Amino acid sequence: MPATVHPIHPAFAAEVSGIDMHEAVAPADVAAIEAAIDKYAVLIFRDQEITDAQQMAFSLNFGALENARGGNVTKPGDFRLASGMNDVSNLGKDHKPLARDSRQRLFNLGNMLWHSDSSFRAIPAKYSLLSARIVNPKGGDTEFADMRAAYDALDEETRREIADYLCEHSLMYSRGALGFLDYSDEEKELFKPVRQRLVRAHPVTGRKSLYLSSHAGTILGMPMPEARILLRDLTEHATQPRFVYIHKWKRNDLVMWDNRQTMHRGRRYDESQPRDVRRTTVAGDAPTVAQEVAA
Ligand code: OGA
Ligand code: MN
Repeated sequence: MPATVHPIHPAFAAEVSGIDMHEAVAPADVAAIEAAIDKYAVLIFRDQEITDAQQMAFSLNFGALENARGGNVTKPGDFRLASGMNDVSNLGKDHKPLARDSRQRLFNLGNMLWHSDSSFRAIPAKYSLLSARIVNPKGGDTEFADMRAAYDALDEETRREIADYLCEHSLMYSRGALGFLDYSDEEKELFKPVRQRLVRAHPVTGRKSLYLSSHAGTILGMPMPEARILLRDLTEHATQPRFVYIHKWKRNDLVMWDNRQTMHRGRRYDESQPRDVRRTTVAGDAPTVAQEVAA
Protein backbone atom coordinates (compact mmCIF):
# COMPACT_ATOMS: atom_id res chain seq x y z
CA MET A 1 0.00 0.00 0.00
CA PRO A 2 1.61 3.33 -0.97
CA ALA A 3 2.11 6.01 1.69
CA THR A 4 -0.74 8.47 2.18
CA VAL A 5 -0.49 11.71 4.15
CA HIS A 6 -3.27 13.37 6.18
CA PRO A 7 -2.69 16.80 7.77
CA ILE A 8 -3.83 16.93 11.42
CA HIS A 9 -3.19 20.57 12.41
CA PRO A 10 -3.83 23.91 10.64
CA ALA A 11 -0.13 24.90 10.53
CA PHE A 12 1.86 21.64 10.28
CA ALA A 13 2.01 17.95 11.34
CA ALA A 14 0.51 15.04 9.40
CA GLU A 15 -0.29 11.40 9.89
CA VAL A 16 1.22 8.94 7.41
CA SER A 17 -0.41 5.60 6.68
CA GLY A 18 0.57 2.74 4.39
CA ILE A 19 4.10 2.30 5.83
CA ASP A 20 5.22 -0.91 7.54
CA MET A 21 8.57 -0.47 9.29
CA HIS A 22 9.10 -4.22 9.54
CA GLU A 23 9.91 -4.26 5.86
CA ALA A 24 12.20 -2.40 3.51
CA VAL A 25 10.46 0.81 2.42
CA ALA A 26 10.09 1.30 -1.34
CA PRO A 27 12.13 4.20 -2.78
CA ALA A 28 8.91 5.92 -3.88
CA ASP A 29 7.65 5.81 -0.29
CA VAL A 30 10.96 7.16 1.07
CA ALA A 31 10.61 10.04 -1.40
CA ALA A 32 6.97 10.59 -0.34
CA ILE A 33 7.99 10.70 3.34
CA GLU A 34 10.79 13.18 2.58
CA ALA A 35 8.40 15.42 0.63
CA ALA A 36 5.86 15.18 3.48
CA ILE A 37 8.35 16.08 6.21
CA ASP A 38 9.67 19.03 4.17
CA LYS A 39 6.09 20.30 4.07
CA TYR A 40 4.57 19.22 7.41
CA ALA A 41 7.76 19.06 9.57
CA VAL A 42 6.21 16.48 11.97
CA LEU A 43 4.95 13.05 10.80
CA ILE A 44 3.06 10.47 12.84
CA PHE A 45 3.16 6.77 12.01
CA ARG A 46 0.76 4.57 14.00
CA ASP A 47 0.95 0.89 15.00
CA GLN A 48 4.65 0.34 14.35
CA GLU A 49 5.56 -2.42 16.78
CA ILE A 50 9.26 -2.49 15.95
CA THR A 51 12.61 -3.57 17.34
CA ASP A 52 15.54 -1.19 17.79
CA ALA A 53 17.16 -2.75 14.70
CA GLN A 54 14.02 -2.04 12.64
CA GLN A 55 13.86 1.54 13.92
CA MET A 56 17.51 2.09 12.95
CA ALA A 57 16.99 0.46 9.53
CA PHE A 58 13.95 2.68 8.83
CA SER A 59 15.87 5.79 9.96
CA LEU A 60 18.82 5.00 7.69
CA ASN A 61 16.54 5.58 4.68
CA PHE A 62 16.92 9.29 5.42
CA GLY A 63 20.67 9.56 6.07
CA ALA A 64 23.41 8.49 8.46
CA LEU A 65 22.62 8.23 12.15
CA GLU A 66 24.13 10.78 14.48
CA ASN A 67 26.79 9.55 16.86
CA ALA A 68 24.94 9.70 20.21
CA ARG A 69 28.10 10.33 22.22
CA GLY A 70 28.30 13.71 23.90
CA GLY A 71 24.61 14.43 24.33
CA ASN A 72 24.20 13.24 27.92
CA VAL A 73 25.97 12.49 31.21
CA THR A 74 25.25 8.74 31.13
CA LYS A 75 28.46 6.79 31.89
CA PRO A 76 29.64 4.37 29.15
CA GLY A 77 28.71 1.28 31.20
CA ASP A 78 25.24 2.58 32.12
CA PHE A 79 23.52 2.60 28.72
CA ARG A 80 20.37 0.49 28.53
CA LEU A 81 20.17 0.51 24.73
CA ALA A 82 22.60 -0.40 21.97
CA SER A 83 24.70 2.32 20.34
CA GLY A 84 22.71 4.15 17.67
CA MET A 85 19.68 4.43 19.98
CA ASN A 86 19.06 7.51 22.15
CA ASP A 87 17.35 6.44 25.36
CA VAL A 88 14.71 9.07 26.14
CA SER A 89 13.02 6.88 28.77
CA ASN A 90 13.12 7.27 32.55
CA LEU A 91 14.68 3.81 32.88
CA GLY A 92 18.08 2.62 34.03
CA LYS A 93 20.08 -0.33 32.80
CA ASP A 94 17.93 -2.60 34.99
CA HIS A 95 14.83 -1.33 33.07
CA LYS A 96 13.44 0.21 36.29
CA PRO A 97 12.64 3.91 36.78
CA LEU A 98 15.77 5.86 37.74
CA ALA A 99 16.04 7.09 41.34
CA ARG A 100 14.71 10.58 41.95
CA ASP A 101 18.20 11.97 42.62
CA SER A 102 19.88 10.10 39.73
CA ARG A 103 22.22 12.49 37.91
CA GLN A 104 21.27 10.86 34.61
CA ARG A 105 17.58 11.48 35.29
CA LEU A 106 18.07 15.09 36.41
CA PHE A 107 20.13 15.87 33.31
CA ASN A 108 17.54 14.22 31.04
CA LEU A 109 14.78 16.40 32.54
CA GLY A 110 16.20 19.05 30.20
CA ASN A 111 14.10 17.37 27.47
CA MET A 112 11.12 19.08 29.10
CA LEU A 113 12.42 22.48 27.99
CA TRP A 114 11.64 23.60 24.42
CA HIS A 115 14.55 22.60 22.22
CA SER A 116 15.73 21.38 18.86
CA ASP A 117 17.74 18.15 19.03
CA SER A 118 21.52 18.51 18.97
CA SER A 119 21.47 22.27 18.46
CA PHE A 120 24.46 22.02 20.84
CA ARG A 121 26.45 20.30 18.06
CA ALA A 122 28.29 22.26 15.37
CA ILE A 123 26.44 20.14 12.81
CA PRO A 124 22.99 19.85 14.37
CA ALA A 125 20.53 17.02 13.79
CA LYS A 126 18.30 16.73 10.73
CA TYR A 127 15.49 14.36 11.74
CA SER A 128 14.57 12.66 15.00
CA LEU A 129 12.40 9.53 15.13
CA LEU A 130 10.84 8.70 18.49
CA SER A 131 9.16 5.34 19.08
CA ALA A 132 6.83 4.73 22.03
CA ARG A 133 7.37 1.26 23.45
CA ILE A 134 5.73 1.86 26.85
CA VAL A 135 3.35 4.79 27.32
CA ASN A 136 3.20 6.31 30.80
CA PRO A 137 -0.20 6.19 32.53
CA LYS A 138 -0.20 9.91 33.34
CA GLY A 139 1.10 12.81 31.23
CA GLY A 140 4.19 12.52 29.03
CA ASP A 141 2.75 14.23 25.93
CA THR A 142 5.30 15.62 23.51
CA GLU A 143 4.65 19.11 22.14
CA PHE A 144 5.96 20.46 18.84
CA ALA A 145 6.19 24.08 17.68
CA ASP A 146 6.30 25.12 14.02
CA MET A 147 9.23 27.52 13.80
CA ARG A 148 8.44 28.53 10.20
CA ALA A 149 4.98 29.75 11.11
CA ALA A 150 6.52 31.49 14.13
CA TYR A 151 9.06 33.23 11.89
CA ASP A 152 6.38 34.23 9.36
CA ALA A 153 4.32 35.83 12.15
CA LEU A 154 7.15 38.13 13.34
CA ASP A 155 6.84 41.80 12.48
CA GLU A 156 9.10 43.15 9.76
CA GLU A 157 11.24 45.17 12.17
CA THR A 158 12.06 42.14 14.33
CA ARG A 159 12.85 40.04 11.25
CA ARG A 160 15.29 42.69 10.10
CA GLU A 161 16.86 43.01 13.55
CA ILE A 162 17.53 39.29 14.02
CA ALA A 163 18.33 38.32 10.41
CA ASP A 164 22.08 37.83 10.97
CA TYR A 165 22.26 37.09 14.69
CA LEU A 166 24.49 34.21 15.75
CA CYS A 167 23.77 32.37 18.99
CA GLU A 168 25.89 30.10 21.12
CA HIS A 169 24.28 26.81 22.15
CA SER A 170 25.41 24.40 24.87
CA LEU A 171 23.86 21.68 27.00
CA MET A 172 25.24 23.66 29.95
CA TYR A 173 22.88 26.55 29.10
CA SER A 174 19.71 24.42 28.97
CA ARG A 175 20.66 22.46 32.09
CA GLY A 176 21.88 25.62 33.81
CA ALA A 177 18.35 27.02 33.49
CA LEU A 178 17.24 24.06 35.66
CA GLY A 179 19.95 24.63 38.26
CA PHE A 180 22.04 21.71 37.03
CA LEU A 181 25.48 23.28 37.25
CA ASP A 182 28.10 20.70 38.16
CA TYR A 183 30.18 19.15 35.39
CA SER A 184 33.43 17.23 35.21
CA ASP A 185 36.28 18.72 33.18
CA GLU A 186 35.59 16.12 30.49
CA GLU A 187 31.91 17.14 30.30
CA LYS A 188 32.84 20.83 30.14
CA GLU A 189 35.04 20.05 27.16
CA LEU A 190 32.29 17.95 25.51
CA PHE A 191 29.61 20.62 26.12
CA LYS A 192 31.61 23.61 24.84
CA PRO A 193 29.28 26.12 23.13
CA VAL A 194 28.80 26.02 19.35
CA ARG A 195 27.43 28.74 17.06
CA GLN A 196 24.08 28.63 15.29
CA ARG A 197 22.24 31.15 13.17
CA LEU A 198 19.07 32.45 14.82
CA VAL A 199 17.27 32.45 11.47
CA ARG A 200 17.88 29.57 9.11
CA ALA A 201 16.45 28.61 5.73
CA HIS A 202 15.32 25.09 4.90
CA PRO A 203 17.71 23.59 2.32
CA VAL A 204 14.89 22.18 0.14
CA THR A 205 11.94 24.54 0.50
CA GLY A 206 13.91 27.71 1.27
CA ARG A 207 11.42 28.56 4.01
CA LYS A 208 12.91 30.54 6.86
CA SER A 209 12.48 29.52 10.46
CA LEU A 210 13.47 30.70 13.91
CA TYR A 211 16.25 28.44 15.13
CA LEU A 212 15.60 28.58 18.86
CA SER A 213 16.39 26.02 21.54
CA SER A 214 16.81 26.08 25.31
CA HIS A 215 20.45 25.26 24.54
CA ALA A 216 20.86 28.83 23.18
CA GLY A 217 22.44 30.99 25.88
CA THR A 218 24.14 33.94 24.21
CA ILE A 219 23.99 36.07 21.07
CA LEU A 220 27.38 37.16 19.75
CA GLY A 221 28.10 40.85 20.35
CA MET A 222 25.23 41.31 22.81
CA PRO A 223 25.36 41.46 26.63
CA MET A 224 24.11 38.12 27.97
CA PRO A 225 21.06 39.33 29.91
CA GLU A 226 19.87 41.30 26.87
CA ALA A 227 20.36 38.23 24.66
CA ARG A 228 18.51 36.02 27.12
CA ILE A 229 15.52 38.37 27.25
CA LEU A 230 15.31 38.43 23.45
CA LEU A 231 15.60 34.63 23.26
CA ARG A 232 12.88 34.25 25.91
CA ASP A 233 10.59 36.69 24.09
CA LEU A 234 11.06 34.89 20.78
CA THR A 235 10.49 31.51 22.45
CA GLU A 236 7.29 32.77 24.06
CA HIS A 237 6.14 34.03 20.67
CA ALA A 238 7.06 30.77 18.89
CA THR A 239 5.29 28.50 21.36
CA GLN A 240 1.85 30.13 21.33
CA PRO A 241 -0.88 27.48 21.09
CA ARG A 242 -1.56 28.29 17.42
CA PHE A 243 1.95 27.13 16.47
CA VAL A 244 1.89 24.01 18.67
CA TYR A 245 0.82 20.42 18.01
CA ILE A 246 0.43 18.26 21.14
CA HIS A 247 1.13 14.58 20.58
CA LYS A 248 -0.70 12.23 22.95
CA TRP A 249 1.17 8.95 22.68
CA LYS A 250 -0.30 5.57 21.94
CA ARG A 251 1.88 2.48 22.23
CA ASN A 252 3.79 1.83 18.97
CA ASP A 253 3.45 5.36 17.65
CA LEU A 254 6.54 6.59 15.88
CA VAL A 255 6.86 10.35 15.47
CA MET A 256 9.43 11.75 13.05
CA TRP A 257 10.29 15.46 13.06
CA ASP A 258 12.55 17.89 11.26
CA ASN A 259 14.75 19.65 13.84
CA ARG A 260 15.60 22.35 11.30
CA GLN A 261 12.03 23.69 11.35
CA THR A 262 10.54 22.71 14.73
CA MET A 263 11.15 22.75 18.47
CA HIS A 264 9.71 20.21 20.88
CA ARG A 265 9.48 19.40 24.57
CA GLY A 266 8.30 16.51 26.72
CA ARG A 267 5.73 17.10 29.46
CA ARG A 268 5.86 15.80 33.01
CA TYR A 269 4.58 12.31 33.81
CA ASP A 270 4.39 9.77 36.62
CA GLU A 271 8.04 8.88 37.03
CA SER A 272 7.33 6.02 39.41
CA GLN A 273 6.05 4.23 36.28
CA PRO A 274 8.01 3.46 33.10
CA ARG A 275 7.88 5.64 30.00
CA ASP A 276 9.94 3.87 27.38
CA VAL A 277 10.51 6.06 24.34
CA ARG A 278 13.50 5.47 22.09
CA ARG A 279 14.99 7.84 19.57
CA THR A 280 17.08 7.51 16.48
CA THR A 281 18.59 10.69 15.10
CA VAL A 282 19.46 11.36 11.48
CA ALA A 283 22.60 13.51 11.30
CA GLY A 284 22.55 16.92 9.68
CA ASP A 285 24.81 17.59 6.72
CA ALA A 286 26.08 21.12 7.36
CA PRO A 287 26.65 23.66 10.13
CA THR A 288 24.35 26.72 10.14
CA VAL A 289 27.43 28.95 10.36
CA ALA A 290 31.06 28.24 9.38
CA GLN A 291 33.09 27.16 12.44
CA GLU A 292 35.58 24.61 13.63
CA VAL A 293 33.81 21.25 13.88
CA ALA A 294 34.93 18.89 16.66
CA ALA A 295 35.47 15.27 15.63
C1 OGA B 1 13.53 13.70 22.26
C2 OGA B 1 12.74 14.48 23.24
C3 OGA B 1 10.68 14.52 24.49
C4 OGA B 1 9.77 13.50 25.06
O1 OGA B 1 13.24 12.50 22.09
O2 OGA B 1 14.41 14.27 21.63
O3 OGA B 1 13.07 15.60 23.51
O4 OGA B 1 8.57 13.78 25.16
N1 OGA B 1 11.66 13.88 23.72
O5 OGA B 1 10.27 12.43 25.42
MN1 MN C 1 14.62 16.24 22.04
